[in-house]
Amino acid sequence: MHSFWQDLPRPFTILAPMQGVTDVVFRNLITEIGKPDVLFTEFTNVEGLQSRAVEKVKEALLFTKYQKPIVAQLWGIHPNDYYLSAKFCKDVGFDGIDINMGCPDKLIVKRGSCAALIKNPDLAKRIIEQTKKASGNVPVSVKTRLGFEKINLDWIVFLLEQEISSLTIHLRTVDELSKVPAHWEVMHEIVKLRDKISPSTILIGNGDIQTYQEIQDKYTTYGNEGFMIGRGIFQNPFLFNKSVNIDYVTVEQRIALYIKHIKLFDKTWKKKNPALLKKFCKTYLSNFEDATSLREKIMLCSKTEEMLVILKNYKGKNTIIK
Ligand SMILES: Cc1cc2nc3c(=O)[nH]c(=O)nc-3n(C[C@H](O)[C@H](O)[C@H](O)COP(=O)(O)O)c2cc1C
Repeated sequence: MHSFWQDLPRPFTILAPMQGVTDVVFRNLITEIGKPDVLFTEFTNVEGLQSRAVEKVKEALLFTKYQKPIVAQLWGIHPNDYYLSAKFCKDVGFDGIDINMGCPDKLIVKRGSCAALIKNPDLAKRIIEQTKKASGNVPVSVKTRLGFEKINLDWIVFLLEQEISSLTIHLRTVDELSKVPAHWEVMHEIVKLRDKISPSTILIGNGDIQTYQEIQDKYTTYGNEGFMIGRGIFQNPFLFNKSVNIDYVTVEQRIALYIKHIKLFDKTWKKKNPALLKKFCKTYLSNFEDATSLREKIMLCSKTEEMLVILKNYKGKNTIIK
């Protein structure tokens, strides 16, 4: 089936789904300052989408038309809940539906979801089938890891046999969490397997990428089409904008961006806990003389209004340290 995945540039970029980080607000900001080729929502629980808490759960699936192409990421255990959730995602206009088969969170894995599916291919197969059945022309993809305790290419072969539109591989095992460098060298073998088993499945590599140059180098070396970046965005929110060098973004611009983020957060979420915004403190307030003391002040705030007053009144030492 032809889908938007085939029409993307080569190599293409994706901002990784990160629960508690890549909400509609942060994605809006990234869309404005340096848009990746594809965006993903945070992972969203399919059972939650069928529960009484549906309105709250659905918040993770908010998006704007400027964020397209955007992929809804789902997780859960019951194939029928995937069916119903995929139908919803299709109806609200998502460009793709991704199934999380990689999250290593202990409680989630204990429930048999996400990374636990690596050990339960029968259930993984049924989940993919039901998601595809409901999604119509909307492409279905999977994001996973290299294996559970150790690298297990049989798992990757199994996924490639499911005729999914794209496959994202976080190049670590579940047990490795994020504690060891990503095993990019395995990508050679995975590309060969893909070419043999399912040439139309688009391959996306993920793990430890910090710069656009690394994407170019890895594309030349390994040949997978897509590159997904997660934590790198904390170091450089302009990462997807090839014409901006973070070293030349002034302190005023960084503070203005944080203010914009906070205001958009307030406007969108109204009563949400502003502690979420503190996760971005270091992203915006780094590499200048007063950055540490400014961050300390922000961390003490309990309201967004207080954060805004501190940032708006800041008139300190503002030379960027490269
Ligand atoms: C705070 C945080 C939240 C995450 N949430 C999700 C998620 O909702 N869905 C998912 O597939 N992966 C999630 N991940 C994993 C990332 O998408 C990515 O696979 C991982 O961070 C490795 O990429 P990186 O080295 O570029 O950060 C999360 C990672 C972090 C740090």
